[in-house]
Amino acid sequence: MKWPALIGMVALGLVSWAGFRLWVPPEVVQPIQFPHKTHIELNLECTSCHERAEKGSVAGRPPTALCLSCHSAGEGTGEIKKVQAYEKGGEIPWRRVWRLPDHIFFPHRTHVVVAKLKCQTCHGPMETLVKPPARPLKTLSMEDCIGCHEKAGASAEKVAARARGPASGIRPLSTDCNSCHR
Ligand code: HEC
Ligand code: HEC
Ligand code: HEC
Ligand code: HEC
Ligand code: HEC
Repeated sequence: MKWPALIGMVALGLVSWAGFRLWVPPEVVQPIQFPHKTHIELNLECTSCHERAEKGSVAGRPPTALCLSCHSAGEGTGEIKKVQAYEKGGEIPWRRVWRLPDHIFFPHRTHVVVAKLKCQTCHGPMETLVKPPARPLKTLSMEDCIGCHEKAGASAEKVAARARGPASGIRPLSTDCNSCHR
């Protein structure tokens, strides 16, 4: 191969790599400008609205009926008028912001109930938002997932318990490819 061609290919490679690194996901626009901050100040728990986070893999969005339990009184204006438009039925078409590639398995319940992690560890300060996030406040790379799993499984107590086998009740920690890649 001639040198100019090789240099050209290397340059092309670098440009597409840079383009890939600089690519940011498009901003997500939600149908209603829901403010997390206002609702957390009412002393609602994260799981009052995202109750499935304690029960299964997916955290889910609150049913519109829950919003209407507070917002159906009177004739609302602005954003509240938009919420009331769902009084006849139907769910607000919220769009996903956090999303891993489809082949990754992420169970909320294990992290929220079993590992007792705070939502903010992975999602950042959601309670400060006055409008929906256009992009994730924080993202997790594979290294972040595995890094925490290694740390969580590294205590002498857990290592000893695991050595006693399944009877210890401590599950093997998931640094195994198949536990996350399915
Ligand atoms: C009054 C109900 C309510 C409460 C309380 C609430 N949320 Fe939400 N949450 C929503 C709604 C509605 C959306 C969709 C609109 C948006 O993104 O703001 C949402 C979206 C989210 C998303 C983005 C989900 C996605 O699509 O990727 C995360 C993450 C989240 N909430 C975390 C939290 C955390 C953490 C707390 C507690 C600090 C919390 N929420 C409390 C109603 C609530
Ligand atoms: C426990 C009662 C309660 C629930 C449940 C609740 N809200 Fe609210 N919400 C409030 C209160 C109180 C305020 C602040 C006063 C106001 O603006 O009405 C507020 C404010 C808002 C605002 C800002 C209003 C503005 O004028 O900018 C929006 C938008 C909103 N809520 C949407 C929702 C949506 C969507 C849901 C369901 C996911 C929801 N709320 C669930 C009580 C609630
Ligand atoms: C260990 C990290 C971690 C913790 C802790 C965590 N999440 Fe998540 N959350 C994620 C990841 C990763 C995704 C994307 C999952 C996917 O695409 O399959 C996600 C997605 C979501 C979504 C949107 C998709 C869905 O499942 O409905 C909501 C809403 C959400 N989380 C809310 C919460 C709430 C509320 C809490 C606390 C009760 C919480 N999360 C705790 C990592 C976490
Ligand atoms: C801050 C710490 C932390 C982060 C970040 C984290 N995890 Fe975990 N995860 C844990 C702990 C702790 C457990 C084990 C809970 C137990 O069984 O005691 C666990 C367990 C799991 C399990 C096994 C579930 C089961 O029921 O056997 C899977 C799968 C998993 N995590 C996937 C992920 C993925 C994918 C990510 C990144 C998107 C992630 N985790 C990020 C702490 C974390
Ligand atoms: C604790 C969970 C976890 C474990 C264990 C894990 N991965 Fe991943 N892996 C992820 C997540 C999450 C991503 C996606 C990261 C992103 O989108 O930024 C990923 C992405 C990848 C990718 C890039 C492809 C893609 O979809 O972006 C490859 C290749 C990969 N993993 C291979 C492996 C191999 C091989 C192992 C075992 C040695 C392994 N992973 C173990 C969570 C995990």
